[in-house]
Amino acid sequence: MICEELRLGAVCRPATTQEPRWQASDGSGMLYIAECNLGRGVFAKRAIRKGETILAFGGALIDFAETKRRGPRECMAIQVGPDLYIDTQPPGVFANHSCAPNAGIRNDRDLVALRDIPKGEEIRYDYSTTMDEKSFTMACRCGAPECRQVVTDFTELPGGLQDYYLSRGLVMGFIARRLRRAGTISRWETVGARLAMPAPCPGG
Ligand SMILES: C[S@@+](CC[C@H](N)C(=O)[O-])C[C@H]1O[C@@H](n2cnc3c(N)ncnc32)[C@H](O)[C@@H]1O
Ligand SMILES: [Zn+2]
Repeated sequence: MICEELRLGAVCRPATTQEPRWQASDGSGMLYIAECNLGRGVFAKRAIRKGETILAFGGALIDFAETKRRGPRECMAIQVGPDLYIDTQPPGVFANHSCAPNAGIRNDRDLVALRDIPKGEEIRYDYSTTMDEKSFTMACRCGAPECRQVVTDFTELPGGLQDYYLSRGLVMGFIARRLRRAGTISRWETVGARLAMPAPCPGG
């Protein structure tokens, strides 16, 4: 199945099933999968420059009830809407969480480098930038000095960290739009880039 348009809302339908699906991609072969302290993880096969797109998350688009039905092993889902998830496929399914990430999600599905990433380094993003469901939490073992210990919904992050991610377009669109509608992020467009706080990627 070839998907010409991969942005949110443009959903591919594979020929064999009626399940909507986004195509996963790692077009440039810049990654490998290997074991780490969190099980399997995604690693850089070559040096990756800040701003480069590393992969695109893809997989079946399912609702919350279906994530529960598939269970934790069968469904490694990323939330892309109030009741919409990508049941992610390789390589994105192997991307682990960090509270001090070297990558983040733009355009709802592209994993981009937040700083230069040397060859051999594991690529991790902040799961909270996708989470707005008041359901899932995860004890964090990322090991970063900034570790929050528990991975929760985006709205439970410290305000300054929310600003950091929002100002760089690293938050799922449905979350950013909801917060903007609620009037709780009026500051980030002007203030976010200047925050002096523990940031995931200094200079990112
Ligand atoms: C999308 S999978 C990532 C790949 C996974 N490590 C594997 O071996 O299949 C997400 C799972 O990885 C683990 N994980 C990822 N980041 C973690 C973190 N910072 N702390 C603890 N567990 C983590 C959790 O078991 C989580 O449910
Ligand atoms: Zn952590």
